[in-house]
Amino acid sequence: MLAVSNLTSRYGRIEVLHGISLEVRTGEVVTLVGSNGAGKSTLLRAISGVQPVSSGSIMFDEQAIGKWRPHVRVAKGIAQVPEGRQIFTPLTVDENLRLGGITRRDDGVSADLAEMYAMFPALGEFRNKTAGTLSGGQQQMLAIGRALMARPKLLLLDEPSMGLAPVLVEQIFTTIGMLKARGLTILLVEQNANAALAIADRGYVIETGRIVTTGTGKELLSDERVRNAYLGL
Ligand SMILES: Nc1ncnc2c1ncn2[C@@H]1O[C@H](COP(=O)(O)OP(=O)(O)O)[C@@H](O)[C@H]1O
Ligand SMILES: [Mg+2]
Repeated sequence: MLAVSNLTSRYGRIEVLHGISLEVRTGEVVTLVGSNGAGKSTLLRAISGVQPVSSGSIMFDEQAIGKWRPHVRVAKGIAQVPEGRQIFTPLTVDENLRLGGITRRDDGVSADLAEMYAMFPALGEFRNKTAGTLSGGQQQMLAIGRALMARPKLLLLDEPSMGLAPVLVEQIFTTIGMLKARGLTILLVEQNANAALAIADRGYVIETGRIVTTGTGKELLSDERVRNAYLGL
C-alpha cells in the first residue's frame, strides 16, 4: 500500500532523513521504533505531505504521491494522528470529529460519527463539550477518531500513548488491536517499543535518519541490539 524509497528531508540546511526506504502492505501494522530525534515524526509528516522532501519517492496505492498537497493525500486515504494529539481545543468534540471528515464527498459522515461515538463512548458523552476539557486519554481517542473520520486506508499514528497513565496506554493499544482486526493498515510510531513490537506484524528501527534494522515484530523483540537500545533489557 505504501512504499517509501530513498527519502531525504531537511530542516533548512540540515538533512535529518538520509535515504529512508520502507513499506507497509495492505492490512499490516508496521511500527517504527527509534530514539528521540531519530526522525520518526519527520518521516510521518513527509508521508502526510506537511514536511517537504528533498529527494526520493512515496508510492501509495501504486501512485507517486510525493508532490501531492496534504489534503489530497487525506482524500486519497492517508490520515495522520499527529504527535501531541493537536486537537482543536476551543471546538467541541463533535466539531473536531466533523473536521476529520472535511475532505469527504460521500454522504456517510453522519453514520461514521455515530460509529465513533459507539467506538469511544466517552466521546459521545462529551460530544458538545469543548475538546480542551477532555482528559489526556480522551483527547487521544478524539485525535484517533478525528483521523478515522477521513475513512483512511492507511492510518499514521505518532506516539499515541505518549504521556498517558499505564491503564490508558493499555486502552490505546487495545484500540489499535481493534482497528487492526477491522483490517485497517497502520504505521505506528511508538516510544513504547515493547508494546508496539508485540502488536506489529513488522517493524523498522530508525537511528539518526537511517533505517538500521527491520524484521517481524517477534524478530525485533528478540534482537539483542533492539533489546539493549529500546526495550531496556
Ligand atoms: N521544526 C524543526 N526545525 C529544525 N529541526 C527540527 C525540527 N523538527 C525536528 N527537528 C530535528 O529533526 C530531527 C528529527 O526530529 P523528529 O522527526 O521530531 O524525531 P522523532 O520524532 O524521532 O523524535 C531531530 O534532530 C530534530 O531536532
Ligand atoms: Mg516524534
